[in-house]
Amino acid sequence: MAVYVNKDNAEEMAAFIEKIDIHGPVPADETKRQYYYMAKVRKHVEALTEELGRKPGCCVVTFGCQMNARDSEKLTGILQLVGYDIVETEQTDFVIYNTCTVRDNANQRVYGRLGELKRYKRSNPQMKIALCGCMMQEPTVIEKLQKSYRFVNLIFGTHNIFRFPELLNAMFESNGDMIIDIWRDTDQIVEDLPVERKYPFKSGINIMFGCNNFCTYCIVPYVRGRERSRKPEDIIAEIKALVADGVVEIMLLGQNVNSYGKNLEQPITFAQLLQQVEQIEGLERIRFMTSHPKDLSDELIEVMANSQKICRHLHLPLQSGSTRILKVMNRVYTKESYLELAAKIRERIPDIALSTDIIVGFPGETYEDVLETIDVIEKVQFENAFTFIYSQRTGTPAAAMTNQVPEAEVKAHFDLVLQKVQEVSRSRIGLYEGQTVEILVEEKNGQDESLMTGRMSNNTLVHFPGTEDLIGKFVQVRLTKCPGFYYIGEQIG
Ligand code: SAH
Ligand code: SF4
Ligand code: F3S
Repeated sequence: MAVYVNKDNAEEMAAFIEKIDIHGPVPADETKRQYYYMAKVRKHVEALTEELGRKPGCCVVTFGCQMNARDSEKLTGILQLVGYDIVETEQTDFVIYNTCTVRDNANQRVYGRLGELKRYKRSNPQMKIALCGCMMQEPTVIEKLQKSYRFVNLIFGTHNIFRFPELLNAMFESNGDMIIDIWRDTDQIVEDLPVERKYPFKSGINIMFGCNNFCTYCIVPYVRGRERSRKPEDIIAEIKALVADGVVEIMLLGQNVNSYGKNLEQPITFAQLLQQVEQIEGLERIRFMTSHPKDLSDELIEVMANSQKICRHLHLPLQSGSTRILKVMNRVYTKESYLELAAKIRERIPDIALSTDIIVGFPGETYEDVLETIDVIEKVQFENAFTFIYSQRTGTPAAAMTNQVPEAEVKAHFDLVLQKVQEVSRSRIGLYEGQTVEILVEEKNGQDESLMTGRMSNNTLVHFPGTEDLIGKFVQVRLTKCPGFYYIGEQIG
């Protein structure tokens, strides 16, 4: 069971940490070992607080996917417990970038922002900078950082993130040298470390780590390591603790949730896990990400169809609609089998929203291949699709292919796909106009202060006049207008 740091138990947790004997031997058990280091770091942060005359600030910046977002919550939980003030601004005492490397533009953003951090650090030499996440698992990135970004204090990767307290301690006890600790892989899953949530009422939960699929364009298996599932009892215990702490919606996270549990000592299917999760009292909504089409079982469709809690949304990455390209991508399904699967899901669960990911410009992709993709978009009628320009990732098989598509051609194809995606999803999303639906209110609207924003079960956003006390609550709204890919609504009752 993870330990949630919240307003109610922060003091209790702090008292627990205070009691740890930091002069005794380092515990062998990994969880205890990290609490031991948290106790040590707490002393360092106390000293720093005294020196500064205030609590030091720390800003955690997340790039990339939901996995990274969840990892950042783990980092934040630890930072809070050792005495940092969590802040939004990067002009502070400690900044951590939790990086992504799935496409090159993610990397470029990190380098760009590091340039800015260097300037802040010049005016505040005490400032500390740490980098972690997927990008750090790439040797070429580390070389570049070592050469041109010497002002970074701490670098670690995805496999040893659970050692964060120990690494923090090393940073405090170092003489200012850059600390780099990158593991090639790990089979460890360390439970029971503190976590702080961004939203009090909803949370992501890792059910598995890594990926074994090796789609030929993708770097994730190289930077996140081999697939390993958490035990169902640990997942259930974590969700129960979350629900006790006010969570009503959870998102089960894995690169391919459909292969969850296959390698556990006592194998269990993802559908079976969902059924166990469904039983948890007080939990209202269940989401999950991501489903690989090749492993999506009939059992899962049935469980979804019969569930009261699993949301009417499925993210089913297509990548390409061309069977020829799918083969080279190593996706292990065809255009036809994808279409069949989508039709089966739509038939069994008519109110489901299907979303997808599409890559344009994979090596060797022709105009005809792109037309196949467009054909699938039309046939499936995706409610939402994330369209990406193919990015060459060093070390992946596709990067070495000699038939890379010229940039101008990719751009033209991308525009075609995007146009189709927008046309289709606009018409699909609008289908609910006039109906009354239940939404979970998430936050104040960023643009219009008088509006609140909530989410339908099918993942569509609804903005409606309301007040902040509704955040985290379910309300009934009438969907009055669909101006784009979202609704304007009004609260009923
Ligand atoms: N595990 C998930 C995807 C994780 S990465 C799955 O298999 O569906 C998220 C998305 O990034 C992918 O679905 C893919 O569309 C995109 N992506 C991955 N590698 C990419 C690359 N090299 N270039 C462009 N997009 C890529
Ligand atoms: Fe990447 Fe494929 Fe694994 Fe998804 S399933 S993370 S696209 S290798
Ligand atoms: Fe990026 Fe790593 Fe997620 S590469 S998409 S942050 S798993």
